[in-house]
Amino acid sequence: MACVVVPDENRVISDNGEITAFLKPFGIWHERWELAERVSPSAPAEEILAAYKPEIDRLSAAGGYITADVMQVTPETPNLDAMMEKFKSEHTHSEDEVRFILRGAGLFHIHPDNGPVFAIQVEAGDLINVPKGVRHWFNLCADRNIRAIRLFQNPAGWTPQYVEAPVSGRYQPLCFGPTYLGGQGNAPAGRLGEPVDNRLKV
Ligand SMILES: [Fe+2]
Repeated sequence: MACVVVPDENRVISDNGEITAFLKPFGIWHERWELAERVSPSAPAEEILAAYKPEIDRLSAAGGYITADVMQVTPETPNLDAMMEKFKSEHTHSEDEVRFILRGAGLFHIHPDNGPVFAIQVEAGDLINVPKGVRHWFNLCADRNIRAIRLFQNPAGWTPQYVEAPVSGRYQPLCFGPTYLGGQGNAPAGRLGEPVDNRLKV
């Protein structure tokens, strides 16, 4: 389940309903989808997309998303470090960044126009969007392992646009868990990687 941290206020929000309410004013949706029994998180992309078709269709109708795919990274992913570098600096996109986490975990930091930076740790079963134009950055957690459904309004446009005077360097990319609690320094940085499965029309 997701967790929200506001580092500058030493605030942690772990209740699912409170997280959804906290994120809503920023235009960020957070939903929990049931993972169990319908399909294995490790199933081929086609099976994943078929199993979640009702949810994908609902989101697509609401948000104008035209394609969906399944991405994954593991510590063995080629060029993972270079991929990670690309998205750990504060940036925006010209379309929404919509992710449903199938496996693993990751950390989005959001830099709103009004209010302090906050972090959202997403885990399996979490759906989240970062609206277009919202400043953010992303890190993998220490295990460098994540698999997610991605939705796109315009796949060609989904590239990072780096902001001037980024604040991302001020915040440690620490996921919850032993690394965070133990204060053992920075977790590896990272970002959702390139698609490894076929993209399907939705
Ligand atoms: Fe992004």
